[in-house]
Amino acid sequence: MANTDSLVTPTTRRLEGKVALITGGSSGIGECTARIFVQHGAKVVIADIQDDLGHTVVEALGNSNSLYVHCDVTNEEHIQHAIDKTISTYKKLDIMFNNAGVPGPNKPRILDNLKSDFEDVLAVNVTGVFLGMKHAARVMVPARSGCIITTSSLCSNLGGAASHAYTASKHAVLGLTRNLAVELGQFGIRVNCVSPYGVATPLAKNAVGVERNEDFEYIMNSVANLKGATLRTDDVANAALFLASDEAKYISGQNLFIDGAFGIVNSAFKIFEYPADQS
Ligand SMILES: NC(=O)c1ccc[n+]([C@@H]2O[C@H](COP(=O)([O-])OP(=O)(O)OC[C@H]3O[C@@H](n4cnc5c(N)ncnc54)[C@H](O)[C@@H]3O)[C@@H](O)[C@H]2O)c1
Repeated sequence: MANTDSLVTPTTRRLEGKVALITGGSSGIGECTARIFVQHGAKVVIADIQDDLGHTVVEALGNSNSLYVHCDVTNEEHIQHAIDKTISTYKKLDIMFNNAGVPGPNKPRILDNLKSDFEDVLAVNVTGVFLGMKHAARVMVPARSGCIITTSSLCSNLGGAASHAYTASKHAVLGLTRNLAVELGQFGIRVNCVSPYGVATPLAKNAVGVERNEDFEYIMNSVANLKGATLRTDDVANAALFLASDEAKYISGQNLFIDGAFGIVNSAFKIFEYPADQS
């Protein structure tokens, strides 16, 4: 019988020795990803504008595993500084997680939106990602290695689930991801994005107008395609972990949906609906 030992993938400490920078790492998906990356052996730099929260996250992760940098992703000097601080502290950057994002004002209809409302969302969700990608590439290209991940959204491929600005911004993230995957492939650098369905975080609860996680999750679960599970921050963090790990060494240019197939359903067609007594 063939020896299958070499087929067994080590599942513990999948980022041993790696260095990651996470924008929007003070809260929600970014904070959870920082925790999971550190559990898997990575050093993590948290770049955010919520300084007190960011310092608290670093304290919880341990000062030897992480550091906090104040960074507004719309400001190129801030991004440049965050990358340079990562290099001066940990000597390299293996994983850039462009995760910071904003939902914008709760004004879905186009006529209610000012030009500045639209531009503010694009500044963080698109220009911030562009700058993160640019300055990660600045250090990854000479190193001939690296992995760039960006948090897009279900709205990267679907209309009608969020405001025009947010939907446009998350489509743009996918475009940037694909373009950069083509450019940086020649240097061995992979570029992907993760696209979650609704997760109870401050951003999402604020966008929906609820305060409690349970209320947000009840709303999301009632319209979800996949029943019997609730999407949480660690599900998105684990998807980012997979893309960052060597197990995804040939995956680039992809948009990984964490949406329980919500984005591929047209709920107007109910051909698989089971009668209540047969379900
Ligand atoms: N929660 C969801 O349902 C959901 C679904 C799909 C995509 N997303 C995306 O996930 C990402 C993370 O959001 P979250 O849900 O964890 O929300 P969150 O509010 O918990 O975290 C967002 C973080 O981004 C930071 N941030 C905002 N503007 C910034 C700026 N200019 N510079 C630096 N940091 C900034 C915030 O301070 C915060 O810490 C966002 O890109 C969001 O669009 C969230």
